[in-house]
Amino acid sequence: MANYQSFVSALVFRACLQQVQAGIMGPPNFLEQPRDLSSFTCRAECSKSSTGQAILGHPGTSFCPYVCENGVQSLRLNTEMIQPASSHDPYFSNRKGNFQSKHTSYEHILATGGQVSNGAIAVSSINNTDGVGAGKDSYTQYCGDGSEFPPRSAWVSFENMFNDNKQIMFSSCSQYSQANDDGPEVGSIYNAIQQVAVETKVDHRFILAIIMQESGGCVRVPTSNYGVRNPGLMQDHNGNATCNSDITGVVQNPCPQDVVTRMVREGSAGTNDGDGLAQCINESDKDDVTAFYIATRLYNSGAVDGSGDLCKGIATHCYSSDIANRLTGWVEAPRGCSLDG
Ligand SMILES: *[C@@H]1O[C@H](CO)[C@@H](O)[C@H](O)[C@H]1NC(C)=O
Ligand SMILES: *[C@@H]1O[C@H](CO)[C@@H](O)[C@H](O)[C@H]1NC(C)=O
Ligand SMILES: *[C@@H]1O[C@H](CO)[C@@H](O)[C@H](O)[C@H]1NC(C)=O
Repeated sequence: MANYQSFVSALVFRACLQQVQAGIMGPPNFLEQPRDLSSFTCRAECSKSSTGQAILGHPGTSFCPYVCENGVQSLRLNTEMIQPASSHDPYFSNRKGNFQSKHTSYEHILATGGQVSNGAIAVSSINNTDGVGAGKDSYTQYCGDGSEFPPRSAWVSFENMFNDNKQIMFSSCSQYSQANDDGPEVGSIYNAIQQVAVETKVDHRFILAIIMQESGGCVRVPTSNYGVRNPGLMQDHNGNATCNSDITGVVQNPCPQDVVTRMVREGSAGTNDGDGLAQCINESDKDDVTAFYIATRLYNSGAVDGSGDLCKGIATHCYSSDIANRLTGWVEAPRGCSLDG
């Protein structure tokens, strides 16, 4: 009887293995569950390579059922599922900058330890199956004060969201002409999100959505600067952590776990200079899902437009709409938002 769980891709397996060896948090449950199996190709290393379709495994896994020419099943670590490049590039990157409000309350600490203060929306523990599953990879444009945006009960589960965005993480650095993330680096992003979510009480799905929006999960994303330095995975407000420094010019490969964690912490808990997601959620002054959508606007623009419309203000007009869609399953479908030209 085959051990189907062993058929996860080699890259991801390496990420899990490294985390187990390093004793960092629990290994992520990286079971591959592509939604459209017919779009995946399998490759197996036998004496001659062969290709074919992935099939649904058991329970809830997918794998490449390769039989090599001599009739012996291929070695599992040399079997991988390859997702074809989509016909358009997935949308991400900090194209117009973030203008999080400045704050001065913590003078000497760089990552400021911000936490979501409202118990109704604070999340204190990690639950990887906290949503509806994978949701739908489609895009709906949302505008207004947040009341027309999707309810939290429509959000995907963290585990599905992470697995479904992994393919983008493994390829997003090429947009910046940097080496793409490898398995251990994607594993570091997973560890960092879970750790910082507990520290800040920011829902882990919200942190992941902002990472995908800002950098596609590229650990070597450059610092952008449209008036405020925005370094790192979350393109935070003048933070210190980056694996592609605009100050020293040093690009780190591999990007170490502690730098990845600090990038996520600076974006979520705030920096000495500006707000992170936790402060933005607090400033929304709401105790329902609209807190998150208002927080996205605050993170991107520093303020909500006087009209209250989350599609208005400086920076990226579709920003709040993009995050709402990421939270309900948008990954690769075309970005159906017309407001940013
Ligand atoms: C939440 O944010 C508000 C507004 O910035 C701030 O006054 C408060 O101290 C924050 N609370 C925590 C626990 O971070
Ligand atoms: C995780 O969240 C789901 C959905 O809200 C819930 O049904 C489940 O009981 C939670 N699991 C744990 C361990 O809290
Ligand atoms: C981060 O802080 C260290 C120590 O102060 C400094 O050497 C380094 O240049 C800083 N990096 C960035 C990108 O600000």
